[in-house]
Amino acid sequence: MSTTSSDERPVAVITGGAIRVGGAISRALAAAGYRVWIHYNRSAEAAAALLGELGVAAEGGAGLGALAADLGEDSARRRLLAALVDPGGPAGGRVDLLVNSAASFEHGAFLARSDDDLQRVLAVNLIAPLALVRGLAPALQRVGGAVVNILDLAAYQAWGGYADHCVAKAGLAMATRALAGELAPSVRVNGIAPGTVLWPDEARFAEGSPARAAITARIPLGRAGTPEDVARAVLYLAREPFITGHTIVVDGGRLASAVGPL
Ligand SMILES: NC(=O)c1ccc[n+]([C@@H]2O[C@H](COP(=O)([O-])OP(=O)(O)OC[C@H]3O[C@@H](n4cnc5c(N)ncnc54)[C@H](OP(=O)(O)O)[C@@H]3O)[C@@H](O)[C@H]2O)c1
Repeated sequence: MSTTSSDERPVAVITGGAIRVGGAISRALAAAGYRVWIHYNRSAEAAAALLGELGVAAEGGAGLGALAADLGEDSARRRLLAALVDPGGPAGGRVDLLVNSAASFEHGAFLARSDDDLQRVLAVNLIAPLALVRGLAPALQRVGGAVVNILDLAAYQAWGGYADHCVAKAGLAMATRALAGELAPSVRVNGIAPGTVLWPDEARFAEGSPARAAITARIPLGRAGTPEDVARAVLYLAREPFITGHTIVVDGGRLASAVGPL
């Protein structure tokens, strides 16, 4: 039996929840009263630090635990799912909200990449989110839960050098709609498509770079967003009981104005 079954606070799982955008989502959900599972792959130190910051759920804090898994590996996904739904775990197997935020962001000309490269990107960015929804569906159905998939403008616009990423995110956009129908009425499934809210950790996007200036010039609101902009939208979709199958674009107007003036 769960040691904290009397704790009625809802439970959220955030993949890639230790750093950057996922970290902001974990913090926002914790601040909003969720107990949070922080999934990570390589960011073990950041996950432990964030868990320390949030405090232990059993002592009134928000952290249920940090769970490692390479979401590209089927066996790792299964281990993660088993830990999340374990009735003897700290949340008694309860899950109210799944936020699929983990994703790779691989760059490379399509013709220079391989089928293996494509499969690796699809495994993390598309198959894993779907596998987690399927695996957590019984838990989500029990409580009338919700899923929020973190997409990307790349689901709607083709970025040069990111064909695999665009295909995976476009697939996740359609999955958001398809699963909303399949899992209704007990579970809602929505998405957030951020524009640039944090710059990739690559030299060509360094502070003051022409790449940053060019992207910023295409954002009508005149600036990149913040991870907190995304986190607030996640919280909104997590709470709104009559919205399912939709994606909120959080991009400062970039997608809406992509065609430009006449
Ligand atoms: N940053 C932006 O401006 C922006 C714009 C549009 C969309 N997004 C979307 O927002 C989400 C978060 O973006 P971000 O910029 O914060 O991401 P990021 O800095 O690229 O970090 C990637 C995240 O995904 C996890 N991850 C990557 N490969 C993984 C694997 N094989 N198995 C498990 N986890 C894996 C990482 O976990 P570890 O660090 O623990 O390995 C990390 O938490 C993504 O879905 C991204 O596509 C971001």
